[in-house]
Amino acid sequence: MVLNELDEDNASMNFRIALAPGWTGQGFGTEATTAVLDHTFFVLGLHRIALDVYSFNPRAERSYVKAGFVEGRRRHTLHWDGAWVDSILMSVLSTDDRPSNP
Ligand SMILES: CC(C)(COP(=O)(O)OP(=O)(O)OC[C@H]1O[C@@H](n2cnc3c(N)ncnc32)[C@H](O)[C@@H]1OP(=O)(O)O)[C@@H](O)C(=O)NCCC(=O)NCCS
Repeated sequence: MVLNELDEDNASMNFRIALAPGWTGQGFGTEATTAVLDHTFFVLGLHRIALDVYSFNPRAERSYVKAGFVEGRRRHTLHWDGAWVDSILMSVLSTDDRPSNP
């Protein structure tokens, strides 16, 4: 997991995550993302965490939604394997109500 692109003025960072192959689809990613959000909001005092996920990755999108991220779509940001792919911009705020048990 990575927290990067710190915007100090706006208390905002970007988030990335990738589990090792063989460990996906068992709830670990959502659990780890939730722990990072708790840390960034309650320990670091940040206000906003954002990320991009490509539309060919519905498992990641679903995991982020379960952790409390809200989405907005940027159209045709990637030309991949001969086709245009949308990018889904997601963010969660310290003031958002997040699922208590995602
Ligand atoms: C993205 C990632 C961190 C998510 O973690 P995870 O542990 O696999 O996710 P979870 O098991 O917590 O949740 C996955 C959810 O997606 C759902 N899902 C799986 N495949 C799906 C599909 N093809 N379409 C829709 N939903 C899907 C699962 O059913 C589950 O939802 P549910 O609990 O409501 O049933 C992990 O899969 C990963 O590291 N993937 C490879 C790297 C990657 O894609 N990183 C993200 C880049 S933006």
